[in-house]
Amino acid sequence: MARYKTNPGFFYTDKSLHRTWLELSKKYGPVFRVHLGPSQWIILNSIEVVTEALVKKGADFADRPYITSADEFTEGSKDIVFGKYGPTWKFHRKIAGKALRYEIDDEEFVYIINLDNEFLEKFGNGLLEDIVPYLKDICPTRKYREIMAGAKTLTAIIERKYKEHLSTFDKDNIRDFTDSLILARKEAEEDDPELLSQITETHLVHTLLDIFFAGVDTSRMTINWAILHMAGLPDIQAKVQEELDRVVGTSRLPGIRDRINLNYTEAVLHESMRVNSALSVGVPHKTTCDTSVGKYFFIKWSKLL
Ligand code: HEM
Repeated sequence: MARYKTNPGFFYTDKSLHRTWLELSKKYGPVFRVHLGPSQWIILNSIEVVTEALVKKGADFADRPYITSADEFTEGSKDIVFGKYGPTWKFHRKIAGKALRYEIDDEEFVYIINLDNEFLEKFGNGLLEDIVPYLKDICPTRKYREIMAGAKTLTAIIERKYKEHLSTFDKDNIRDFTDSLILARKEAEEDDPELLSQITETHLVHTLLDIFFAGVDTSRMTINWAILHMAGLPDIQAKVQEELDRVVGTSRLPGIRDRINLNYTEAVLHESMRVNSALSVGVPHKTTCDTSVGKYFFIKWSKLL
């Protein structure tokens, strides 16, 4: 496998890593290894290799590597996005998925989004501590300290909201996502009490935080980009409008069932996501066993992006 040596700063100063990797993959192929200071990462950079790894061999690539900053702001990777793959994670993901039938509706939403914006701006492309982990214990950077302080504030708000919900919970009156998560947990208690005992309140608070980071941020960035792209292309706007009027009409909003008949609109959204992706390099993965993609062999615990 081709290797590309970089200095550790490369990872967190490069403002468009995905473009750099695209260039590197032209020279080194769709699978190559980069050295980021003391750690090595394997980069998968074509639809074929990513599909084989994350879809066809999903379980082999399902784990997440340890990320210093994420481990700290998720209080020991007790969330879904950065959590370690295993029975607790699977169960946790299942109950969160079940609760997602409901919408988030909260008066503190705007306040949290503003805090979140500050957090995201600082988080930028990453942190030196994620490449040189021991820095966090000896001399954490200012950016790292600010990010952790921001994460603590957000966690405290969500924790308070969670406790408020728990104290007024009524299974016959499910008010929002938090209530549905509490209900899913209570229902699951009957199925598998032993496994459920591993899912602490900290896990549930971090699931709620995941919805902000993984769900709301990605969706709003994607929508913002789509609006920006279309603002400069009135002819495309007109075609999308024509399709929506024809398929959906003007008396209701479009729903998931309309998707199959909205080919042009869907293509426009895909193109917008291709040009500006909300998560351009994805979320790191780690192999759970020795495995392979195409002609490339990976040992257990390989870290990939
Ligand atoms: C345009 C919108 C979205 C984009 C671009 C996006 C993108 C992604 C990506 C790239 C991953 C990593 C997948 C992987 O590592 O294999 C991910 C994971 C995840 N996303 Fe999204 N996402 C979006 C919307 C949402 C929404 C609306 C929710 C929840 C309400 C959500 C919740 C999650 C969760 C919980 C994970 C971790 C799950 C896992 O590791 O299996 N995402 N997302």
